[in-house]
Amino acid sequence: MKKIAFLTSGGDSPGMNACIRAIVKTCLFHQITPFAIYDGFQGMIENRIAEMKYADVNNIVQLGGTIIGSSRSEQFLHKKFRDIAVANLKKLNIDGLIVIGGDGTFTGATILSKEMKIPIIGIPGTIDNDIFGTDHTIGYDTALNTIINSVDKIRDTANSHHRIFFIEVMGRHSGCIALNAALASGAESVLLPEHITDIEKLALQIVDQHKGLRASIIIVAEGDDEGGSLEIIKKIKPYLSQYDLKSTVLGHIQRGGSPSAFDRILATKMGAYSVDLLKNKSSNVIIGCKGDNLVTTLIKDGINFKTRDINIDNLDLLKKMLTLN
Ligand code: F6P
Repeated sequence: MKKIAFLTSGGDSPGMNACIRAIVKTCLFHQITPFAIYDGFQGMIENRIAEMKYADVNNIVQLGGTIIGSSRSEQFLHKKFRDIAVANLKKLNIDGLIVIGGDGTFTGATILSKEMKIPIIGIPGTIDNDIFGTDHTIGYDTALNTIINSVDKIRDTANSHHRIFFIEVMGRHSGCIALNAALASGAESVLLPEHITDIEKLALQIVDQHKGLRASIIIVAEGDDEGGSLEIIKKIKPYLSQYDLKSTVLGHIQRGGSPSAFDRILATKMGAYSVDLLKNKSSNVIIGCKGDNLVTTLIKDGINFKTRDINIDNLDLLKKMLTLN
């Protein structure tokens, strides 16, 4: 193992830079030359690949986003472009590839693993925390903390004005963020993509619950079947005309910001481990974290799981804390 290339792909997440730093430093420790591929799989197609030096990763552990950029490459879905991308790696004699991202990234990595001989290691970096084979993904902890800080602030003003707020959080396919945001912020209800939302029933619950409260907070996952928070308000307003209903879409604020200590440490561990795995001739696995241990899942298993289900224990806990729609 002489040359390792790495990329970040899909939605960025806080901690990706800490991971990049760990990959570069571990490569240098093992006298392997690290190469950054800029802007994800798109940069691999366009041959935007450059050697990284020790100084390139100085002063980045605390930065949100990804210094090497990311993309959701449409071209990479076509074999013609993947062949160009692989040829670019081969021209540089790259011996191993590390991809940091979410389910879309791993779907790309799974296809690549069948088409090229270069070993691939996947690192879960997404705020969605929906990757099979890991308890935590890089960026999720920071995003959750951003969300609860925002919800706490909204609760202040909601209390002052006796309002009901529908707060939309990210997660178009997974309710993991919404579920745990609801638990951590003490929300009065939550709408998850995994559950069918019954607007009339929800309205009755809110009326019931809201009695005696100054404010109510309803967390809405972006991927709820009835739509985002604005659509929900439009649909529920006829049942709740006596209340002052407000919508806040937290949006991409959830993806930015300095990573938490938890995410920095997780990212550093996973980044260093990915290089060690390649050095020890492992290939085509996704790194996960189970309890305190780093584990691996074969990439070929990854294509079918796509995403991890929401945590049933946390769902049960939430049911005790609130009325779940
Ligand atoms: O996959 C991470 C994520 O932040 C999802 O939670 C969200 O639905 C999506 O990305 C948004 O993607 P984009 O920034 O491309 O609009």
